[in-house]
Amino acid sequence: METLVGNNCNQARLLLEKGEVVAIPTETVYGLAANGLNELAIHKIFEAKGRPLSNPLILHFSSKQAINPYVLDLPPILEKLADFFWPGPLTLLLNKTSLVPEIVTAGLDRVGIRVPAQPLIRELLEILSFPLAAPSANLYGMVSPTQAVHVLNQLQGKIPYILDGGACENGIESTIVGLDNEQLIVYRLGGISLEQLENVIGYRPPIKNHTENQPLTSGMVKHHYAPNTPFAYLETDFVFEEDKNDGFILLKDNRPEIPYTQKHILTQTGDLKEAAQKLYAAIHFMDQKHYSKLFIERFEEVGLGISMNDRLNRATKKFEKLR
Ligand code: TXA
Ligand code: MG
Repeated sequence: METLVGNNCNQARLLLEKGEVVAIPTETVYGLAANGLNELAIHKIFEAKGRPLSNPLILHFSSKQAINPYVLDLPPILEKLADFFWPGPLTLLLNKTSLVPEIVTAGLDRVGIRVPAQPLIRELLEILSFPLAAPSANLYGMVSPTQAVHVLNQLQGKIPYILDGGACENGIESTIVGLDNEQLIVYRLGGISLEQLENVIGYRPPIKNHTENQPLTSGMVKHHYAPNTPFAYLETDFVFEEDKNDGFILLKDNRPEIPYTQKHILTQTGDLKEAAQKLYAAIHFMDQKHYSKLFIERFEEVGLGISMNDRLNRATKKFEKLR
């Protein structure tokens, strides 16, 4: 199958209406979308990604009003968060109605719901008569795409169309929250920081995303978001050795001993929001350079630094045995 790249919403609509999958831009990462009410179409997402059917998908809507037929209720605290952060990088786990196909939720009672902010995907959702089911548009276990070319590199030949909306503004997946015994729980850290949630609800919600055996969300699986090149944290006592062919991803240009051919600098100023926007693109870029090993600095444990470290913990975990 030939994979076309373009910015034509109508072309994307026609394919989606025919039950095809289309890669879509969002403000977080690119998604691999299908008609969220069409089981056969949704199956194609799992096939293209090589993703197990036990891993549920997020449904994307054009507005808060549009979700009504698909959820039983919207508890006040979640509605407050929706009003604050939608459209934007927040996913709510809500009790689903029977209109949501089982394959979307992997048989669970709750469905992940998000109203994205990216202009092109909003335009597309406005002209569709159904929500879009979409996971991140990477092969299962790999780094999420934040540019159309990242999608092309992983899924070329497997999908008919990539709707190109440019580089993703946030660069890290949505934050996933839901209620457990009326208590707000963060199931995946992401584009909305803990501090931002705290500012709205008045306290810092607990995080429940580290269970290894029962992955509820893929953010909960310990090995994930990984490049092909062996990937490790740059420890603070690290000493650069010239004769090794290693690559480095740094928050700031603070290691003059490393030549520019071997390092990728995320920001001039150390701004974590900018770093999040560029992080996955940096990993994709450096992963293609054939270094023997790729090192990355741990981020400060504040704001989006916490979300980024969460991803890096999983991405580096896979290679721990190599060290
Ligand atoms: O920013 C994002 O959330 C992107 C864009 C495309 O919207 N999507 C994304 O989807 O990251 P995905 O499938 O790669 O990650 C969503 C996570 C998965 O780990 C999935 O297990 C979890 O959300 N999830 C989805 N529905 C769920 C549900 N009903 N209950 C628990 N976890 C759920
Ligand atoms: Mg994903």
